[in-house]
Amino acid sequence: MTVLEGPRVRLRPLVPTEYPAVFAWYNDPETVAPFDRFSVDTFDEFSQAVGSASEEPTSLAPRFAIERKDEAKVVGVVGHYRAHPILEYTDVWYVLGDPAARRHGFGRESVQLLTDHLFAATAVERVGATCDVDNAASYRLLEEIGFRREGTLRSALFHHGRWHDVCVYGVTRSEWAAKAPRG
Ligand SMILES: CC(C)(COP(=O)(O)OP(=O)(O)OC[C@H]1O[C@@H](n2cnc3c(N)ncnc32)[C@H](O)[C@@H]1OP(=O)(O)O)[C@@H](O)C(=O)NCCC(=O)NCCS
Repeated sequence: MTVLEGPRVRLRPLVPTEYPAVFAWYNDPETVAPFDRFSVDTFDEFSQAVGSASEEPTSLAPRFAIERKDEAKVVGVVGHYRAHPILEYTDVWYVLGDPAARRHGFGRESVQLLTDHLFAATAVERVGATCDVDNAASYRLLEEIGFRREGTLRSALFHHGRWHDVCVYGVTRSEWAAKAPRG
């Protein structure tokens, strides 16, 4: 079982008793996807996807719970997935389902831990992320931890009734290694 320890959060596998709470976040489009496409699976499909994600590089299922250490409480989830059928990189994603946990740096710390883990545990050379051009919380988080905006995909994502442009972010293994130690 992989557990990633940061100063204020711990990333660890979700346990089945936590699936209903996380699934409830997935049923609230304004919690998980104010800037994203929204769709839900059934609870059975969701549970199966979480359980089998470790064997599926392209799985979009949550791979780690974000647990606040001070409250021993799960406040969000993160995932990663092989994003392209040919190009060899891994994209990360992240949601703080508990709105009270936002804007305290937990998202930033979680994505740092996840990116550290991907470079340490896999041979990937580039870790990426995409976000709606209007998702300031997401792109500021990425920029603060060293991801670089590489470009913009125009009209790449349909949500809330129209097409949206999407920022492409990435960091290479050497860039990540060259950054100052994080604490
Ligand atoms: C994106 C998300 C995970 C950010 O997590 P977070 O813990 O709130 O972010 P942090 O506290 O680490 O803040 C990161 C930066 O974003 C800024 N920020 C956070 N929320 C913001 C908002 N609503 N509007 C503008 N900036 C915001 C913070 O101020 C901080 O920048 P600063 O240090 O320059 O002030 C969280 O907002 C979330 O779950 N959003 C819904 C799901 C989502 O959009 N996920 C990403 C999909 S690409």
